[in-house]
Amino acid sequence: ASILVLNGPNLNMLGVREPEVYGRQTLQDIVEGLARSAETRGHRLEAFQSNAEHELIERIHRAYHEQVDFILVNPAAYTHTSIALRDAFQATRIPFIEVHLSNIHAREPFRHHSYLSDIAKGVICGLGASGYGLALEAAFQFLEQGR
Ligand code: DQA
Repeated sequence: ASILVLNGPNLNMLGVREPEVYGRQTLQDIVEGLARSAETRGHRLEAFQSNAEHELIERIHRAYHEQVDFILVNPAAYTHTSIALRDAFQATRIPFIEVHLSNIHAREPFRHHSYLSDIAKGVICGLGASGYGLALEAAFQFLEQGR
């Protein structure tokens, strides 16, 4: 199957950005690990990062036309602001898991609400970079067993 990993604003700064909150792995490190696991499991994985809301939305639309089967998304700050990103997921109906490196519920109140969580298959937060790997395992299960 075909899996897309989407990362939102400032995640291109991982490794440098507040390592005490987000860890020391770069986005490239994380994506390379995911791509290896997907390949081993016989799936295709592509990754896209953008700091621009419209580019993330357009990537979701493109994923629909490419018949992408599943998305792992860390929407970063757009989690807490973007009705447009929510609408893109609802429009395309591509199943997705929401991932956050940090535990958004243990942070500032403005990070507690997500515009995506209630329409996600599931949400993983607070487990650092390994959260992406765990989400990918869950995606494999969904794609291979249909739930
Ligand atoms: C984040 C949490 C968001 O609140 C924040 O704006 C981010 C990263 C995380 O992965 O912990 O940019 O999504």
